[in-house]
Amino acid sequence: MATAAAPRSKRFERLAQRSVNKEVFITELHELGLVVMQSPNDPKPSLAIESGRVVEMDGRTAEEFDAIDRFIARYSIDLEAAETSMAMGSTEIARLFVDINVPQKRVMEVMSGCTPAKIAEVMGELNVVEMMMAMQKMRQRRKPADQAHVTNWKENPALLAADAAEAGLRGFAEAETTVRVARSAPFSALALLVGSQVGRPGLMTQISVEEALNLRLAMKGLSTYAETLSVYGTIPSFLDGDDTPWSKGILASAYASRGIKSRFTSGSGSEALMGYGLGWSMLFLEIRCILMVKGAGSQGIQNGSISCIALPESLPNGVRGVLAENLVAASLGLEVASGNDAMASHSEMRKTAKLMLQFLPGTDFVTSGHSVMPRKDNLFGGGNFDADDMDDWLVIQRDMQVDAGLVPVRENDVLETRAKAARAIQAVYREMGFPEITDAEVAAATTAYNSDDMPERDSVRDLAAADAFLESNRTALDVVAALARAGFDDVAERVLEMQRQRVLGDYLHTSAIFDDEFHVLSAVNTPNDYMGPGTGYRVSGELWDRIRALPQALDPRDLLAEEAPDPGLTLTPMGTAMAKAGSEVVVAVGPAFATAMNETLAGWSHADVLKAILDGIESEGVPWRLVKVHHGADLADIGISGARLSGSGIAIGLQSKGTALIHRKDLAPLNNLELLSQAPNLTLASYRALGRNAACYAIGKAPHPVPVKIDNEARLRLIVHTTLLHHREVNQIDADKGVVEMEVSFQ
Ligand code: 5AD
Ligand code: CA
Repeated sequence: MATAAAPRSKRFERLAQRSVNKEVFITELHELGLVVMQSPNDPKPSLAIESGRVVEMDGRTAEEFDAIDRFIARYSIDLEAAETSMAMGSTEIARLFVDINVPQKRVMEVMSGCTPAKIAEVMGELNVVEMMMAMQKMRQRRKPADQAHVTNWKENPALLAADAAEAGLRGFAEAETTVRVARSAPFSALALLVGSQVGRPGLMTQISVEEALNLRLAMKGLSTYAETLSVYGTIPSFLDGDDTPWSKGILASAYASRGIKSRFTSGSGSEALMGYGLGWSMLFLEIRCILMVKGAGSQGIQNGSISCIALPESLPNGVRGVLAENLVAASLGLEVASGNDAMASHSEMRKTAKLMLQFLPGTDFVTSGHSVMPRKDNLFGGGNFDADDMDDWLVIQRDMQVDAGLVPVRENDVLETRAKAARAIQAVYREMGFPEITDAEVAAATTAYNSDDMPERDSVRDLAAADAFLESNRTALDVVAALARAGFDDVAERVLEMQRQRVLGDYLHTSAIFDDEFHVLSAVNTPNDYMGPGTGYRVSGELWDRIRALPQALDPRDLLAEEAPDPGLTLTPMGTAMAKAGSEVVVAVGPAFATAMNETLAGWSHADVLKAILDGIESEGVPWRLVKVHHGADLADIGISGARLSGSGIAIGLQSKGTALIHRKDLAPLNNLELLSQAPNLTLASYRALGRNAACYAIGKAPHPVPVKIDNEARLRLIVHTTLLHHREVNQIDADKGVVEMEVSFQ
């Protein structure tokens, strides 16, 4: 075929420009580990135990083990459960996940005895809907939650504190920050701590910086959790970070021993990205990571590909595989912060579709970072969902009656809380002799969209003061004293309570967060007890009241009560309307016309609409009569009732909300000659054209159809108003009054 001038489809041209086609999609390449699930190179499950030690796992003998195999064989697999688990078929195990009669604990028991390859095979049996059902059961904490990102480009402490406070008010259970300039860390952690406790007592905070510094800041009492412990599924990727499973395990113990909640981070794609995928599937490698985390004794994990998400999403099965990682972690008894934090797609539709896999079943943290600020200020590389997405999130929670961790807030409450947080950190800086936070900064932080709205600070002075604070022996207790001296007693008490909780250590339990009164909610004291309908966590009671009461939701009673403006015309009843002979057009209006209602949905007064129609009829020299149909509000009924009285058999039917048609007496009631069904799109010119066309029908002239503006969003915008306005019309129905002839006088 000669292809030189092959035509292009205009539709394909448009599709090529869609956001989803900005992504790079690739086919699988096993050698490089560019395969999400079930690489042909993945080992087959096997396990051999001799005198209490694993001598063969997934096709490799103990001599062939790499360090990860050795760690997993030694610390991660429950050898007592293993015999039973490994003897079960993978399909049989997969079915336990979705069987509502099998409790969570039983699935955990079976999973605890599986090797990495066995777990990978089980996941291969589940489709995404089954995985979502399974996640609903396997999530460790009863109530889902969400984690916030709180950072800003200028590293302004007043803005950090205000955003942390807003995170608290919005219901986040954890908030984390990171830094652009490493030396800012002590002050950023401090601003986050103070701000968070203004927003919501018990909001846990962390700062993501280099491990030694991280631990130091936490030991000063400036943060309460850590999730910076990365693990990788192949040895060379591990060595890249100078680490081994053992060194990470020791670090995890260091955090725990100082009362700091910690979780590991891993996720599909990191090994392939680092050049060491070694031909294995991403999910198989991630399962090795999850098992290492379990073996190291950590309470939880941040996984779901995390920063690498775009890589699995370039491949077939990517989003399913990432849900599988979350599910494996939960079913091994780990708290899961389930990703959705790094930019996953250019396409809003694709981003939301992916999010729903964790949002709907609920995970311990639906995102492992949801930006409280606009994207530009997110120092975690931009962020997947941000300040601008908050209302979409809340509406979807309301649509689905789902708790994905957030609650609606009122603008005034947000402003008050942000102002208080900014003033509190201002007072701490003053009391502790740090560089001044000005009133102008407090004011700007209260109302800012992003850090562009913030005054500049002298960063040289800030960094010098931050260095000195880090080196000094001053701790969170000095912050408590400063807050108390400045009159922020409530904030001081909460920051102090955080320190006390660090000593108590109850929040080291799996999946622990605090409620607003510093009660721990964890997998230990509030375990997920889902076993099908009628069990488990459901959004109800006070929380449902809060979720459904969006501040922007209108009260239909207020809309109903709205005063109708002056109609600009009077209709005087002249008795029951009679059939007549001769050429005429009857204009039949609905029961509320020019009385209970005075304008159409499009905002035209009834006088203007009627004048336009009559003008149109008269332009063809045809006489008209006006009748009011009292016995019904249905447009077909109004129209046919008029037509049956009309000498020409032609009538215009007009509902009070503005919907109109032309009817003829010999047609079936639900048929008609012309219908203007979308009242919001009608102009006075449309009504005039309708009048003229009716007249043409009456005298046997061929009319041109009425031109109508197309606005496909009109129904979306106005359906509530339509419903309520129509309700007013229906309220005026009076069957006894029938059809009444009216005399019209315009004012
Ligand atoms: N595997 C391991 N670590 C990861 N991180 C992000 N994604 C992954 C992954 N897929 C780490 C980053 C940083 C923190 C945000 O988590 O290196 O330390
Ligand atoms: Ca995170």
